[in-house]
Amino acid sequence: MTQAPSAEDQFDEEASRRLESIYLTPDVVEQRAQVMALLQAQPGQRALDIGCGPGLTTQSLAQAVGDNGQVLGVDIAAPMLMIARQRCASLPQVRFELCDVNALPCADASMDIALASQVYEYVETIDAALVELARVIRPGGRAVLVDTDWESAVWASLDDTRMRRVLETWNEHIPHPQLPRTLKRRMEAAGFSSVTVTVVPLLNSVYDRQTYSIGMMDMIGAFVTGRNGLSAYDISAWKADAAAIGTEYGYFFSLSRYVFVGERQPNH
Ligand SMILES: C[S@@+](CC[C@H](N)C(=O)[O-])C[C@H]1O[C@@H](n2cnc3c(N)ncnc32)[C@H](O)[C@@H]1O
Repeated sequence: MTQAPSAEDQFDEEASRRLESIYLTPDVVEQRAQVMALLQAQPGQRALDIGCGPGLTTQSLAQAVGDNGQVLGVDIAAPMLMIARQRCASLPQVRFELCDVNALPCADASMDIALASQVYEYVETIDAALVELARVIRPGGRAVLVDTDWESAVWASLDDTRMRRVLETWNEHIPHPQLPRTLKRRMEAAGFSSVTVTVVPLLNSVYDRQTYSIGMMDMIGAFVTGRNGLSAYDISAWKADAAAIGTEYGYFFSLSRYVFVGERQPNH
């Protein structure tokens, strides 16, 4: 397997805008609401949004902690932060900083809660980054981490062999494509206790551009083209296949998001 490209390289301005539009589809909006319900942010809390991307999660956190709370959004990709700053410009409780998750710009135990949605799977030095996360959360505070394993995808296709090749190649976009399988143990080792895991499914049963999976076809297609022998022609055929199956048999896509909630242990 080749080395995954860095997050800065993956999230240029075009990719950041593309991801923003995918994360505004109704199915992802619903998934975000379910994650926020698990986070249980309270008015007045200090919240950290790690790998905040286009600021959709930051905006949700700001609403939850209210005017008396504080939210810090951090990300390594400048184009993402530009979009996030625009989105949250009218929210005085929100600020943003450009940084790597391995060096958070926060004092020890300065945060009540932290959210990292679809972020740690991008981080090569995952265990050190989780220790850094634990450093900034106060004892008794909570971290909510959301990650995906694309092997949980059920995606109807007229050509299952090509679908498998595409998804196996897509796994190369991150260093930890199977992170949910080990994340609970890793969180515990970093200083979190009472770690719970909840599955939040994404389900698309119609072929519709306003869904996560159809939006992701452009993102996945752009990444896998030219890798592992997948040509532009293969990817066009893969996309046409999804449209055709939608018309002829009925479209079907399902993917599991795994939500880990951990409490910062005192005296770790
Ligand atoms: C898939 S996006 C998720 C965005 C956002 N959390 C959401 O759910 O809407 C992943 C984000 O993590 C950021 N990221 C990846 N590795 C990072 C790192 N080492 N430090 C800071 N941010 C990182 C990327 O730049 C990107 O904005």
